[in-house]
Amino acid sequence: LPPADNGTTSHPNGTLQQFPQIIIIGVRKGGTRALIEMLSLHSTVVAAQNEVHFFDWESHFQKGLSWYLSQMPYTFPEQLTVEKTPAYFTSSKVPKRIFQMNPNIKLLLILRDPMERVLSDYTQVFYNRLQKHKRYQPIESVLVKDGEINLAYKALNRSLYYTHMQNWLQYFPMESIHVVDGDRLIKDPLPEMKKVERFLKLEPQINASNFYFNKTKGFYCLRDHGRERCLHDSKGRAHPHVAPAILQKLYQFFHQPNKKFFELVGRTFNWN
Ligand code: A3P
Repeated sequence: LPPADNGTTSHPNGTLQQFPQIIIIGVRKGGTRALIEMLSLHSTVVAAQNEVHFFDWESHFQKGLSWYLSQMPYTFPEQLTVEKTPAYFTSSKVPKRIFQMNPNIKLLLILRDPMERVLSDYTQVFYNRLQKHKRYQPIESVLVKDGEINLAYKALNRSLYYTHMQNWLQYFPMESIHVVDGDRLIKDPLPEMKKVERFLKLEPQINASNFYFNKTKGFYCLRDHGRERCLHDSKGRAHPHVAPAILQKLYQFFHQPNKKFFELVGRTFNWN
């Protein structure tokens, strides 16, 4: 279909592809899938199915905005489009690129206790490797080297939220970025989702009947027009056991960075 004058692509039944007015920028393993699925419960919001990786992958970025638009779902004009690519948050070139597309875009960032995020990140890579019949080192040997925290382990850097947040705040004011508490979204999703609705200025729609706790899964699942579903098995996996002495080191490692993050965003979280 040819692009229309307003930069969108229209479809005969009145739907069109729009650039996202909302992007979930991360963080990897923060609960980004849960957030986009829960946001999709709202009738105004339509989510891109896959992680688009437009602003962080050069091969995609070079294809230009028309390619980006072609990746978006068809919506009615009054609906809002959201995409999520968790790698955006930790990629330093992304904030400027998103700003250049739309300086007024609304950004959602879901964060979780940085230590828990590291263990979740490790678990994800562990299973990816297992699928490829490859081994992965035990958690303790990636976390620690010569008795100290192994700074070369990339998952640690992804959990240094303030370093990444600084990049975003060079382009966007805090009013444009809503931080979702990923630990709370796990334990009690509704209050977190009501805050998201308010931030996006959506009509309040998401309600208690949209969630039910599934004991087998150990997580909340979604109820949408009477249809019940849980997230994929890869969401909500058990994390490896880590010796208390190493956890203590990790806790110390994140203490100051966490404080810096709280100062940066003017809000505290239950991490320290
Ligand atoms: P774990 O699998 O380590 O527990 P992402 O979608 O960004 O990869 O995040 C995955 C995380 O989402 C999971 O990490 C899980 O803790 C969290 N999560 C939050 N709400 C969830 C829900 N209702 N069902 C399953 N996982 C959920």
